[in-house]
Amino acid sequence: MRTETERTAKKTEKEIEKLLGKMTLDEKIAMIHGAGLFRSGGVERLGIPGLATSDGPMGVRVEFMNDRWIPAGNNDDNVSYLPSNSALASTWNPYRAYEMGKVLGAEARGRGKDVILAPGINIKRSPLCGRNFEYMSEDPKLTATMTVPFVKGVQHNDVAACVKHFAANVQETDRLMVDEEIDERTLYELYFPAFKAAVQEGGAYSVMGAYNKVNGYHCCENKMLLDRVLRGEWGFDGAVISDWGGIHKTGEAAACSIDLEMSVYPDFDEYLLANPLKEAIEKGEISEEAVDEKVRHLLRLMFRLKMLGRHREERRTGAYNTPDHRQMILKTAEESMILLKNENHLLPLNAAKIKKLVVIGQNAAKIHSDGGGSAEIKALYEISPLMGLKCYLGGNVQVEYYKGYHVPEKPKIFDHNWQADSLDDLKGTDIGQLARNEEQMPGVHRRREEERLAQLKKDQAEIHEKNQALFAQAVTAAKDADAVIFVGGLNHDSDSEGIDRVDMKLPYEQDMLIEELLKVRKDLIVTFIGGSPVEMPWRDRAGAILWSYYAGMETGTAFAEILFGEVNPSGKLAETFPEKYEDCADAKNGQFGLWGRIKLEEGLYCGYRHFDRQRIKPAFCFGHGLSYTEFAYSGLTLKTEKNGEVRVTFTVKNTGRRIGADAVQIYVAPIGSRVDRPDKELKAYTKVELAPGKSRKVTLTLRREDFSYFDEALHDFVADAGDYEILVGASSGDIRLRGIATLA
Ligand code: BGC
Repeated sequence: MRTETERTAKKTEKEIEKLLGKMTLDEKIAMIHGAGLFRSGGVERLGIPGLATSDGPMGVRVEFMNDRWIPAGNNDDNVSYLPSNSALASTWNPYRAYEMGKVLGAEARGRGKDVILAPGINIKRSPLCGRNFEYMSEDPKLTATMTVPFVKGVQHNDVAACVKHFAANVQETDRLMVDEEIDERTLYELYFPAFKAAVQEGGAYSVMGAYNKVNGYHCCENKMLLDRVLRGEWGFDGAVISDWGGIHKTGEAAACSIDLEMSVYPDFDEYLLANPLKEAIEKGEISEEAVDEKVRHLLRLMFRLKMLGRHREERRTGAYNTPDHRQMILKTAEESMILLKNENHLLPLNAAKIKKLVVIGQNAAKIHSDGGGSAEIKALYEISPLMGLKCYLGGNVQVEYYKGYHVPEKPKIFDHNWQADSLDDLKGTDIGQLARNEEQMPGVHRRREEERLAQLKKDQAEIHEKNQALFAQAVTAAKDADAVIFVGGLNHDSDSEGIDRVDMKLPYEQDMLIEELLKVRKDLIVTFIGGSPVEMPWRDRAGAILWSYYAGMETGTAFAEILFGEVNPSGKLAETFPEKYEDCADAKNGQFGLWGRIKLEEGLYCGYRHFDRQRIKPAFCFGHGLSYTEFAYSGLTLKTEKNGEVRVTFTVKNTGRRIGADAVQIYVAPIGSRVDRPDKELKAYTKVELAPGKSRKVTLTLRREDFSYFDEALHDFVADAGDYEILVGASSGDIRLRGIATLA
């Protein structure tokens, strides 16, 4: 018996064919390329609208003019600023991911969008990648399990998630041309799983092809990625959208499964899937059937979004800037912040004992929502840590703020946008075909990168000079206060699309300032906002360290609540914080940030897989995060079912004095495997909230595939019979329970 959904799907397919049958070649072609910087063409005659797309993962981006990278100047495009995907992943709470997806979907619909270009789910291979803040984790399981609910949440609101960037978008250096050599097993075990889960379990309606090449071919023209894997093996029948300017050749793009060409240029008719495609079809070089297939995918997306068909009236209309959204954003921010260190219960601070609080560091007052590249937004508001502290403490507590270190100002350029520049040197040139001259592009980009590095050097001198007075002022102020909070870290001058970081150090001589402050204040509270790990050479001397990713419009509120114990921190690291960059796999093999070509020589051994194998102790390991209470785990039992599933049962107890939540992690470690495998891999986790003294029995199920690896010869995942150690831990470095499961 056929189900209702099957029947509806069949009807939809018929309607798609009917529409397609009525369309002229011109009309079909209009649908498969941009007709605006964020809009595709429609077919008015047949009532087919264009698709309205928008960035991005942290909120719906400002409204641009249709054909220029200049904000339209609207006053209704301020939006809720959501925690970045890196903050979201640190909650280790898939429910929060669902909520954030729902908020983003509602805001996108509220702003009249059909496709939201989010979430960003690439695996973090190097701590230096400029876009890490937009991505979730170094681990495929954590990424996949947070992505699926996020996608469902977005699409609940009749907006398509556009999961990006497929695949292995691991660096920004030479981002349009870099060719990444990656072996098949690494792709299947590390770089693919979250995308597979997004389309198969999350039901993502669209996927964005990445800028980079994988094994010789641009991702947006890559038959292996798009035809064989995404469509063939995973059965994806939604739409594949190019990254903006990610298509380079008409023939290649026509021949593979990319459906919509978007770009940064205003010459829409000259897009490679516009007039050049039409000419090639007319010459008989490309068949019209190639276009039909793309149109089918786009029409299917529209039916799913209720833009077409009988259910149009039922389409959700969304809403943005609602109090509800802000409340959910705050909850996520609270759960995302990570207490890295807390000696002698330095935190939480006791508000009743503070008459004068000194806050030092530019990130205390900095607004981050307006930067980072395409993820930038025009936030309705953003509560900085300083504002959060002032709001929390009220006017009767003296809160003094000192910049502490100097941040060189970057001039804001209003007449053109970095995004258009990012594909070509626009100044005074025709931005049509010239921009697609592949030979020329690396040269242009390289020059720009050299200029950036030279500027960084110049900045260094300015920073050093200005810091003398700022340091002295901060240190003096720090001596005379009831508590001192340092708020430093990174900002979108380095956590940004289009550039990679040059090192893993804190910029602006912050390390020097922290050292100075620690000399006068042993009780200094060191806090950070940033999008990727930094070295903390002074960390043995600091008593308390709190890390926050870009956590959205309520960052400051959550920050104050955590520091003053209103909220018990429960975030954990979704990526390793290495002691120094040289310890990382990509630093050791030198295959990061190169131009032209990189080989992912480390294979599966990135992140904690690498640190485990090389027995290198990171500063803070994957999965680490403290609470103001303590948890104890006990009573592990493992039960292997006939179908190969393993039931992992244990008890978690809150042994401290406060209510709190703990993300408990289960790793699988193969014993005596016949192939080389990582020492252990995260396969399940759950976040348990418990009142003091209370305990809960937790059962998690490991499926057979959680024991498997990808066998290149068989081109399939294989779970060998044998013994596997099951590790239950508070982090990857803090394993508390161990047992052995035997697979038949
Ligand atoms: C980015 C994408 C973004 C697109 C549209 C590109 O530069 O890589 O992530 O969605 O622009 O703004």
